[in-house]
Amino acid sequence: MTNSLNDFATFKRLTRAGSRFSYYPPISEWNDVGLESNAINTALSKCGKNTALYIHLPFCEQLCSFCGCNIKITPSTEGHLPYIDKIIEEWNEIREINPEIEISELHLGGGTPNFLSSENLQHLLYSILSEVKISTDFYGTIEFDPRLVDEEKLRILKEYNFTKAIIGVQDFEEKVLINVNRPQKIEQVSYAVDMLKKFSFDDISLEFIYGLPYQTIESFNWTITRAVEFPVSGIILYPLAVAPWQKGTQSAMGHFPEPELETYFTLYTTARDILVERGFLHFGFGHFFKENSPLFKAKIQGELHRNITGFKRNQNNALIGLGVSAISHLPNLHLQNQRVFEKYLHYQGVDKICERSYQMTEIDNFLQDFTRNLICTGELNLDFLEQYEEVIERPTGPILEFLGHENLIKELKLTPMGMDLLKTVCLSFI
Ligand SMILES: C[S@@+](CC[C@H](N)C(=O)[O-])C[C@H]1O[C@@H](n2cnc3c(N)ncnc32)[C@H](O)[C@@H]1O
Ligand code: SF4
Repeated sequence: MTNSLNDFATFKRLTRAGSRFSYYPPISEWNDVGLESNAINTALSKCGKNTALYIHLPFCEQLCSFCGCNIKITPSTEGHLPYIDKIIEEWNEIREINPEIEISELHLGGGTPNFLSSENLQHLLYSILSEVKISTDFYGTIEFDPRLVDEEKLRILKEYNFTKAIIGVQDFEEKVLINVNRPQKIEQVSYAVDMLKKFSFDDISLEFIYGLPYQTIESFNWTITRAVEFPVSGIILYPLAVAPWQKGTQSAMGHFPEPELETYFTLYTTARDILVERGFLHFGFGHFFKENSPLFKAKIQGELHRNITGFKRNQNNALIGLGVSAISHLPNLHLQNQRVFEKYLHYQGVDKICERSYQMTEIDNFLQDFTRNLICTGELNLDFLEQYEEVIERPTGPILEFLGHENLIKELKLTPMGMDLLKTVCLSFI
């Protein structure tokens, strides 16, 4: 692949650990303390039009042993209601602080949002959306487990204008899936895509993980070659993240050695080459979209946005996260809700819900806008570069020289290699 990253030694030299710049600064720099309600109220009162809402629904039926999300395994849907009601209570408290919030997107993440019973899903969506101001271009997004397709739930989602779905696939190879306790057939993914389309979803992506035990170049090549046959607009590749606290469960539930850096590299480049050859365009951080996708159109029109829930087709001024461990990005303030399910369930008052927070400075706001603009447009904007020198008080010449020398940018545009190493490009400005 011309100009893409194909050489492991270069990857090893240039790759960097750290966050994926969906917000700035990374959570490792936030404070592990709560916040005065004044600070939260002030930030919430500045949310107006184009506010996105994220709801964390942690429930899953069965544990996939690789999972790094904040989840709660429940064998049935009985017992979900107190949590749903707590989310509604949290939302009502926020609306009391600022009744003027206008919602442009609702993203249901998890866990497995489509594991909720249809009664709970209807109750949640009705209670959250019925009395709030909704933008004319409002749409809903759901993180979707393809093993749990239910027509009644799809009907409810359609009623509330859910048009975007991100399907968790991980792999198509049965040996890989069985080892991580995720029995799933390719036919189930196919059925999920067909049904989502039938219920008017026009933006569907498939998510895969590379670095899972038993994946080989041949098996992952086969998986991605099957994936590109699906009528979807995007394919997302995540490197397996192994958190220390997961290791016990992973080993107990399957064969789970930690992959070498070179394994990640070869699996990624194998998949990337198939995707690029089949007309998918790399937006960075392993997100590939087709030219006729809503996100590609948004990119061409300069409207692409990105936050912790991924690439978006319209701008958000703020993101409010509801539920256990949910992250909010409010004007000048990042915060994260209680991460322990029981603590979230019993909190009283918005100030008690906050577990970690970060008050943004002018420099943080600038760096967040700067990196977001670079990621969403795929190029370095001259005005932004000029402002960078003023705000950060650092010359951009040496940074641009380094990026050009390493073939990460050309004429201020990210090269394919720059897209492969987008974290490195962003970090060179920090
Ligand atoms: C909330 S789940 C998606 C919806 C649903 N629960 C499912 O699994 O189909 C979010 C996604 O995060 C990714 N993920 C979870 N744990 C991960 C890990 N340890 N490393 C990399 N990606 C991970 C998976 O691709 C998964 O599909
Ligand atoms: S990958 Fe999805 S279904 Fe599996 S445990 Fe994690 S959130 Fe649940």
